[in-house]
Amino acid sequence: MVDLHTHVLWGVDDGAQNLDMTMKMLWQYAEAGYTDIIITPHHDPSRYEVPVDVVKEGVSRLTALAREMNLSFNFYPGHEIQLQAQTPQMLKRGELLSLNNSRYVMIELPFLTKPYYAKEILYRIQLLGYIPIISHPERYRYAQQDPPSFAALVGAGCLLQLNLSSLNATAKEQEALNYFLRNGLYHVVATDAHNTEMRSPNQKEALYKLSQLVDATEYEKLTETNPRRVLLDQMIPDALQPADDETQGRGFFPGASAPSDDRSRKEGRNPLRGLFRIKFKKRKQEPFDR
Ligand SMILES: [Fe+2]
Repeated sequence: MVDLHTHVLWGVDDGAQNLDMTMKMLWQYAEAGYTDIIITPHHDPSRYEVPVDVVKEGVSRLTALAREMNLSFNFYPGHEIQLQAQTPQMLKRGELLSLNNSRYVMIELPFLTKPYYAKEILYRIQLLGYIPIISHPERYRYAQQDPPSFAALVGAGCLLQLNLSSLNATAKEQEALNYFLRNGLYHVVATDAHNTEMRSPNQKEALYKLSQLVDATEYEKLTETNPRRVLLDQMIPDALQPADDETQGRGFFPGASAPSDDRSRKEGRNPLRGLFRIKFKKRKQEPFDR
């Protein structure tokens, strides 16, 4: 299995606090059956701004540590990026990491205050050729209050990532995640592991719960197929397609489909470029802007 969101690297943010905790978390990863782990330390000016070279060095340190423990993992670099006005420029300058150097960037939004500026900045990130994955929308208060409005970001070409630990979290989180699950709006799940307890890498119970909430095809897509596509920098075919009537007409591109292969990228074109024209026309109707 692939985990594309974790704070397993010790001593850099609010994740693993020391080497001992990282080692315990690696055992939990092994128990849960993970093989490929993209580390995503925080890059958040209000909390932790883990520099690129520290993350890259962290990949080497974790690789060496796992080898010493006789565990077999592949580690890859990434960031969980708190969205800021300067995020596009920082990505351009190489001061932030995408997930394993792919087109996918893990973006965190504020937890309490609705970020009215988000659409504009996310669009500028997309223009650089990146596809934003919004981490754990079910945890944001404004998304809990109005999930359909938040879902407009999916219509705008963003992907959503579910935290497995949210499946055992507060009623509000579960209500929101049920909405997103019911409407097929999540694209990937991840552990967002921070420690060995509530937010640990071993989320077998949550995975079982998820398997009871979605059908087998969706489960496979969320837990295996799409995370691996992100790792390998492959297009996720059903991005940009709100799946249910509840979200139709709310997105930028209702009914639009994403390019299904890597042809555009190989030819040097932004695969989303053609769709942006529609975005400008529909922009004023966007509920997330209200
Ligand atoms: Fe995180």
